[in-house]
Amino acid sequence: MPGTVIAIDGPAASGKSSVSKGVAEALGYTFVSSGHFYRTLAWGILRDALPLPLQATEVDAWVPTLSLELKDSRIFLDGQDATGHLSAPEVATMVSQAAAIPSIRNLVNSNLRTLANSLDLVMEGRDIGSVVFPDTPYKFYLDASPEERARRRAREGLVDSVSERDRLDSSRATAPLIIPQGADVIDTTHLTLNEVIEVVLSHLQDVTPSRS
Ligand code: CDP
Ligand code: CDP
Repeated sequence: MPGTVIAIDGPAASGKSSVSKGVAEALGYTFVSSGHFYRTLAWGILRDALPLPLQATEVDAWVPTLSLELKDSRIFLDGQDATGHLSAPEVATMVSQAAAIPSIRNLVNSNLRTLANSLDLVMEGRDIGSVVFPDTPYKFYLDASPEERARRRAREGLVDSVSERDRLDSSRATAPLIIPQGADVIDTTHLTLNEVIEVVLSHLQDVTPSRS
């Protein structure tokens, strides 16, 4: 039987990964960052020096040559561990361009859906409730003011193109960032991490802790 999926979407630095990790821990579910898959492919584009600006036809020919794998919370591209590269500024700059290309999205989506065949998941991203698992009854959309989100990233000491990624992610033709139909929207601007986790868990009282 396929696992239960809790989908958590929202813009950059809205708290998706920290909140998803907390919710996954509370329920014994597996946490999955779909952004890590997109960041891995952005790293691969830089590694393989694909011509820039990216052309869909070049990317379409490249994608079938790849092997992408999540193992013990680490992510591998063609057997190389990409995990340590995912927060690099050049990856952050490339990722939203890469994520706008349909062949990249198809590759990531098929990997994400395969995980749900055998695991109970808390999965975060931009289109998890709208496109990847539209039938899950458990959907959340986290938001926070742009100023608060920029502050959160800066506090982490990361150089990140948050507002430019938001613009690209919300305006692309394929699977743009939207509030999924039926999602609970949580404005986290004035909430602590633990408060957000509590709000999400309070909406999940009918979810059974993991059997996987
Ligand atoms: O942590 P943060 O929200 O800053 O980014 P992320 O979740 O690591 O995602 C990095 C980028 O991947 C996003 O800016 C999107 O361009 C893309 N992405 C996407 O298109 N769809 C998803 N489901 C997840 C990420
Ligand atoms: O995954 P996403 O980019 O949406 O955000 P994140 O990486 O989970 O959160 C960005 C930063 O904001 C982290 O350092 C969190 O601890 C912090 N955060 C916060 O200060 N208050 C919240 N309510 C949620 C997250």
